[in-house]
Amino acid sequence: MNCQPLLVAILAVILALFFRTWWQIGPRVDWSPRPVEPILEQCPTDKAPLLVFGATSMLGKYIIEAFHEDSGLCIINFGRSKCELCNINVKGDLRDTRHVDRVIAHFKPTSILTSVKPPLLGIHYRTFIELNLFAMVELIKLAKKHRVHNFIYVSSIAASGHYHHHDTASEDDEAPYYTDYEAPYDVSKRFAEDFLLQQHEEGVFNAISIRTSGIFGGDGDPYDYIRQPIIAGVETPPIDSNYAGNIADALYVVHKTLLEKPHLGGQFYYYTGDPMSEIDKSRMVATETGKPLVMIPMWVVDFCREWGHWMRWDPHTYNLIDLFRMGNVQQTFNQTKFHKAFPTFKQKYTNKQALRSIYGEHDMQNSEG
Ligand SMILES: *[C@@H]1O[C@H](CO)[C@@H](O)[C@H](O)[C@H]1NC(C)=O
Repeated sequence: MNCQPLLVAILAVILALFFRTWWQIGPRVDWSPRPVEPILEQCPTDKAPLLVFGATSMLGKYIIEAFHEDSGLCIINFGRSKCELCNINVKGDLRDTRHVDRVIAHFKPTSILTSVKPPLLGIHYRTFIELNLFAMVELIKLAKKHRVHNFIYVSSIAASGHYHHHDTASEDDEAPYYTDYEAPYDVSKRFAEDFLLQQHEEGVFNAISIRTSGIFGGDGDPYDYIRQPIIAGVETPPIDSNYAGNIADALYVVHKTLLEKPHLGGQFYYYTGDPMSEIDKSRMVATETGKPLVMIPMWVVDFCREWGHWMRWDPHTYNLIDLFRMGNVQQTFNQTKFHKAFPTFKQKYTNKQALRSIYGEHDMQNSEG
């Protein structure tokens, strides 16, 4: 008997499974509805309740640091993890709309701030749609139903389309059609943002969206590669990026200003930081830390991009190939409108200062101690 075809078939299956594991992380449903339980905690009556979604994310931590200085606020964290600086913690998943409804009904927040997004890599299309889109739309509807006054949405340049070239683009530029978007992350952010801004009613439901970009701030940001012992450098077009601490300060100013000037709502604003190419970031951190910088030839990058995209096992799950492909599209924005609307905001750190403090000295201290 000739066993060879069988062996080849088995080998093919093993190889396929290996590739699948290597290339993708499978989708999973990782939440279930919370049981109906009475909520016992309450905000002091002299403080304005602020309900935050995403308070424990990388950006969220900076946001809470900026907001918790304001003693007039009672910060309620709704999420899976505990937020130490928040006044009240409520465990839950944003997709658990009935639970969200009960929480809003109980605390009657004056303002809601959302800084939620699934991790960028290894996430299935479905999660982006469920979390960024469906859950967000339901939250916005609930906020309006329960007469929440202010809704601050942390949006992203993703809403402008990561695969669309932007050269000092502004808010007035023509927006892509939903059907133009390639990335589920992008179109889900855009759709939810549109929905929110349509709900804006001056003085009744003040909705605002701030489009941010390339956020770095330490653990959990997309610039992990700068932490490796050898830094790989790639020539890419400039992409605006920003320090999480600046964004948090900006959001606090947005929150304060919106209370006084609700007519600023109903719109989105670009606050995307400074244009800085990846290679400039890599060079700076390499110089600061004394780590070697290895340039990857462009043909290798292009080959990985094209070939990796072509040989995808599951096109519905986001992976490194997507980051590579997005990194090749220029993203710079004109932030005049933001600074005009929020003149009291002054950025404390340049990108260089922030990168130096996060990756430079920090890493050098680690290697010395
Ligand atoms: C940015 O926008 C402002 C006003 O909208 C304009 O005056 C300025 O020239 C723009 N800057 C660039 C670099 O396009």
